[in-house]
Amino acid sequence: MCGIVGNITNKPIKDLLINGLTELEYRGYDSVGIATIGSDNKISIIKNKGKIKDFANKYQNKSLQGNLGIGHTRWATHGIPSETNAHPIYDSDKKLAVVHNGIIENYLEIKKDLIKEGFEFFTDTDTECIANLISSFLKKDYTMIDSITKTSERIIGHAAVLVISEYFPSTIFGFKKGFAGSILVSKNNGEISISSDMQALGFDVGDYVVLEDNEIFLANSNKVEIYTDKKLISKEWKKINEKSELVTKGKYKYFMEKEIHEQPNLFSDNFSGRIDFVNKSISFIDEINKIDLRKFKRIHLIGMGSSYNACLLGSYWIEKIAKIPTVCSNSSEFRYRDPVIEEGTLIIPVSQSGETADTLSASHLMKQSGYDQLSIVNAKNTELDRITNNSIYMRANKEIGVASTKTFMSTLQILFTIALYLAQNSNSKLINNKLFDDYKNIPNYMNNILDNSELIKKISKKYSEYSNFLYLGRGYNYPIAMEGALKLKELSYIHAEGYPAGEMKHGPISLIEDKMPVFAIITDGVYLNKMISNIREIDSRNGNIIVLSNCPDKLDKSWYSDLINFDYTDDNFSPFLSTVCIQLFSIYIAMERNLDIDQPRNLAKSVTVE
Ligand code: AGP
Repeated sequence: MCGIVGNITNKPIKDLLINGLTELEYRGYDSVGIATIGSDNKISIIKNKGKIKDFANKYQNKSLQGNLGIGHTRWATHGIPSETNAHPIYDSDKKLAVVHNGIIENYLEIKKDLIKEGFEFFTDTDTECIANLISSFLKKDYTMIDSITKTSERIIGHAAVLVISEYFPSTIFGFKKGFAGSILVSKNNGEISISSDMQALGFDVGDYVVLEDNEIFLANSNKVEIYTDKKLISKEWKKINEKSELVTKGKYKYFMEKEIHEQPNLFSDNFSGRIDFVNKSISFIDEINKIDLRKFKRIHLIGMGSSYNACLLGSYWIEKIAKIPTVCSNSSEFRYRDPVIEEGTLIIPVSQSGETADTLSASHLMKQSGYDQLSIVNAKNTELDRITNNSIYMRANKEIGVASTKTFMSTLQILFTIALYLAQNSNSKLINNKLFDDYKNIPNYMNNILDNSELIKKISKKYSEYSNFLYLGRGYNYPIAMEGALKLKELSYIHAEGYPAGEMKHGPISLIEDKMPVFAIITDGVYLNKMISNIREIDSRNGNIIVLSNCPDKLDKSWYSDLINFDYTDDNFSPFLSTVCIQLFSIYIAMERNLDIDQPRNLAKSVTVE
């Protein structure tokens, strides 16, 4: 979702801002813009609908002078993606410009008041209120810091904002209210770089500080000051010690294709320090040292989208394997339903980006209520990290494809390992040699799927023209049916529903006909016979069935149209393998339909608005 950059530099400002925005491209966006202040102290803005490369082409001959600027990738919330609505946005006098992540909930009311004061509005954005509000307070002779403070107090909602102004041509200001993504401010030898994430800072060395809720900063080449409640505060500056990782597609055409193929190696990496295959033990000793997981009587997992699907499966594993009552919630529902949580509950928020507004709000609520939390995140130094103060990292490296694949897999693996860890501590008989052998073998089984993916490609081609799909699974593979449907929707824009197969007779069965293929995940275990009954019922109604199974010998070929099979394991492990199959099925269908695999339409990698 929206990304913010800002620079004060001796280097060519336009190129630097565009490079920073390119680093944020993975987040998803639909328009781009930058604003700079030249030696004449005037603000220049260039912006465009569409991708950064189109923006760069359009303005390749436009030179922007000066050494200070801000930039933005916008994901439309208020007003269509257009050049007019793209950020930066001027105030009505064109004396200041802002870029903004988040949503201002009371923008209409503010707009009405400002129009009465004589301010004009030229865009459909809520952001224009911020520019005009700051301007209105400056006109009343408030200082810039006071004007920003008053603006932040007046708005309801979430905002991460940068401001430049002709009145202070050497300074970038910014503020943060609520959860609309991070703002990192960094300095190095008189240069300033500001960004929504670490990768886009562009500095490999230097110091950085992270802006918290209700903080305001001003930065120029001499100093960076941070204020809260109009008071100057001192904050801890940290050393930048993460070299930006150069991610390429390698031999693959798409990042997502590469990310799917990286999973066996990442799975093995995620064993390290957690699973001791020699002594047959599980520990998080170097990772979870602030809380003792064994003390909790209940667990509540929260997440959105794929992270929610992973939470759902995690709740099955933890209950089944560790026998600890575990539930999961969609963060956006959880946040507003006044949740009643028992004492002794551990909250586990899951988010690859660590920036999902709904999950941040839910986690923040739990923090205010005093619950212990352990987050599972991929990106370090994110807002969720800071709220929970305890994180397990996915170790998935940077995921560029907007649709999650390897981060979903890493989350599953961490949740499974937590279940084993808790079971080990209650001396479960499950934690035996066979379990360790099976777990160790999962990457090999994944490689078997990837090495034989031609069959999945062939089947995907056959089904690529269909408009509707039903995904069914039971037990551990019900969340994977949900994830399969989500991946298909995200990548190929095909309507797909994921259901627990037991639910089919309670409504979805009315959809069954030959134009609605059913993707049934059938694994050997307690659900086998139930799933067989389900596909028999579909077959009796002329349904078109694709079976994904680790026990095809237990199924009759006449019961389905197509079969994708994967290695046999204990049912506990089957989701790791069925996941790879549903990912391949979706990507191949999208490739067949010639779609934008890495940046599907309308989607964002960091969803920073509720
Ligand atoms: C998954 O493919 C999607 N990109 C989306 O559902 C995602 O899982 C969701 O937005 C939550 O993101 P998070 O893990 O960064 O919190």
